[in-house]
Amino acid sequence: MLDLSEIKIIEHDVLVVGAGGAGLSAAIEASAQGASTGIVMKSLLGKAHTVMAEGGMAAALANVDERDHWKIHFRDTMRGGKFLNDWRMAELHAKMAPDRVRLLEEWGAVFDRTKNGLINQRNFGGHRYPRLAHVGDRTGLEMIRTLQDHGIHQGIQAYMECTALDLLKNEDGSVCGIVCMWRETGAFTIFKAKSIIFATGGGGKAWEVTSNSWEYTGDGYALAYEAGAELMDMEFNQFHPTGMIWPLSVKGILVTESVRGEGGLLLNSKGERFMFNYIPDRFKSETAETEEEAAKWLAGDPNAKRPPELLTRDVVARAINEEVKAGRGSKHGGAYLNIATQRSAEDIKKKLPSMYHQFKVLAELDITKEPMEVGPTCHYFMGGIKVDSNTTMTAVPGLFACGECAAGLHGANRLGGNSLSDLLVFGYLSGKNAAEYAKKTGHSDFDKEHASKIIRSATSILNREKGENPYLLHEQLEGTMQKYVGIIRTKDDLEAGIQELDKLKEASKNVKAKGASQFNPGWHEALALRNLLIVSEAVAKAALIREESRGAHTRADFPGEQADWLKYNIVISKGDNEKMLLSKLERSHPDSELERIAKSTIEDLEQEVQQERTNMNS
Ligand code: FUM
Repeated sequence: MLDLSEIKIIEHDVLVVGAGGAGLSAAIEASAQGASTGIVMKSLLGKAHTVMAEGGMAAALANVDERDHWKIHFRDTMRGGKFLNDWRMAELHAKMAPDRVRLLEEWGAVFDRTKNGLINQRNFGGHRYPRLAHVGDRTGLEMIRTLQDHGIHQGIQAYMECTALDLLKNEDGSVCGIVCMWRETGAFTIFKAKSIIFATGGGGKAWEVTSNSWEYTGDGYALAYEAGAELMDMEFNQFHPTGMIWPLSVKGILVTESVRGEGGLLLNSKGERFMFNYIPDRFKSETAETEEEAAKWLAGDPNAKRPPELLTRDVVARAINEEVKAGRGSKHGGAYLNIATQRSAEDIKKKLPSMYHQFKVLAELDITKEPMEVGPTCHYFMGGIKVDSNTTMTAVPGLFACGECAAGLHGANRLGGNSLSDLLVFGYLSGKNAAEYAKKTGHSDFDKEHASKIIRSATSILNREKGENPYLLHEQLEGTMQKYVGIIRTKDDLEAGIQELDKLKEASKNVKAKGASQFNPGWHEALALRNLLIVSEAVAKAALIREESRGAHTRADFPGEQADWLKYNIVISKGDNEKMLLSKLERSHPDSELERIAKSTIEDLEQEVQQERTNMNS
């Protein structure tokens, strides 16, 4: 066993891992409850994938269309998630989002305004009404700025550039701490905590083309899995339809859905508005099927059907893929996205300032004059750590999870804009419940042998004489996931992918980082590799089991949704001998009232909401 006496120990009641919107919201609430709260992050405060949710946060504020209501937001979310969502989480989200957005405003978020001075809201895919509260196309950034400012002034302790390696548990199986490594010095620290919240985001760095930056290596999923928590719905990976595709150096960077929300058109190489050919039956009654119908929406007719460019992301991403396969792709293998013909240059610069700047600087293209070229990019995990719908606690007592790393809310496909409101709602609930849990718990001593093992496993990467290059292994992993576990999946591809992953897993046992432990990117890469491989295996194996196409999971060999599969979530846990166990978990029956709301026709629900409002006012 290592001598741990030189290792710094830091104690908190609640420790949050990850400082995006979810982590900051959780930390703020935990500290508001009186818990001593620390927040550990791999990167710098203010840098998180939250900033990639550019277009806005979805909440039924009804500022722009007064017909909006939590019930309609809930219905949209369930339909977008192909009814595989956790019903209770979708209910909590739709009901709580408006107040959480208003609170963010109180804390200083500078939202765009309506003419009446209310928070402005814009259209987004799958949302019935203009629902996304936004700050130009920099909404995620504004959220982070506001939350970090509020949190730091409230006394949250932030630990930057600190990588979480593995959790420590008590004999009764509850969490009591986590071993971390400071990226700058390579020194280790043990955080002791009564409860721990994971808000670690997703794992898009397992794919070659992704909107995610270097931090998104699935750490929370892997650490929770290693500690005995369950993962769920890992087969549902969102490919955002519009990432940059050219030049290659910027391939994958997000082009916000707000471009389509502001009226942008998707065109193929023949100049055709191809989305009219891809409207699923379920959305036909609410989607414009001709240019004329779609033009009414752009002209601001509140009763017009929505243009097909605003169908859900899974549908749009697949459509672009199909157009490319059929030989109608853009010059560099995607689709054209044109806002230049739809809005004035002044409007574009005002509503989409980041997009204007991004294309000007990175692609030497003026989006007020020319169409952009876009294609699908891995953006988001709908699946993640399985949590209790009300408390967000995982199967490991004292371990909570929220935001992208938690499963449930989004089902088989997330609606754009629902992630930012997810972070506010479930970050808050995690913070509240983790603080309550901590109040009932004392600090306990950690298992020193286990802590030593975690540290030795990390340093063995530096200490072995020779071994595999972590960068090359990561590159091979990205290639494997892109080729075999992409937008369109088949049994043969998935099986081939799993075989490749097995080889990579074997090779990674002998990974070697050269150099010392002080800021050593090769070592950091090697440490992340274990997590990426766990995540990739979980995704590929769950994708192989789910023999249907639902939401973001498309099986070319099993087209269409299968009613029977709606009864199950795929749940993953760690078995003996490092074996990954996958099982079909039967879903509990939904609350009948929620089921009624989700399955109502839009006309009936609109009438019901209107009636409720009339009754309230009389
Ligand atoms: O397109 C976007 O602005 C992304 C938003 C989201 O992922 O919620």
